[in-house]
Amino acid sequence: MNKVLVLNGPNLARLGSREPEIYGSADWATLSATVLERAGKLGLDAEVRQTNNEAELIDWIHEAVDGGADVVLNPAAFTHYSYALRDAAVMVTKAGRRLIEVHLSNPHTREEFRHNSVISGVATGVIAGFGVNSYLLALEQLAA
Ligand code: DQA
Repeated sequence: MNKVLVLNGPNLARLGSREPEIYGSADWATLSATVLERAGKLGLDAEVRQTNNEAELIDWIHEAVDGGADVVLNPAAFTHYSYALRDAAVMVTKAGRRLIEVHLSNPHTREEFRHNSVISGVATGVIAGFGVNSYLLALEQLAA
């Protein structure tokens, strides 16, 4: 069974109450459960994690590299400035695994500082703007 780590950066556990007009009304528990349910149906062995800590997110990416897992990554605000996270993300594809960058919103329609992603250039693909479905589309691609 294909292992997938679904990794989420800062403030994403606040879904539901955090700017619902942008991120939607589904809360974190709903997002996790929806992702796990779809992964199960697709025959993927998925784990969903969230952290506000950059170092922890990087350690989880190392874990994916060492364990031969694909990664679905919503780096949240780290998207826009974390070169350390980018350096970790490179290792995933160099190891022959896939890393799909996902976003609930479409950052390109928002403030200018969100228009740049330091992760996209080293990701296998990017899916943004479809709410929780961004994650489900990523899983479908990994299972295809
Ligand atoms: C986000 C977009 C980022 O710009 C923002 O900092 C987030 C969430 C999204 O999923 O739309 O925290 O990654």
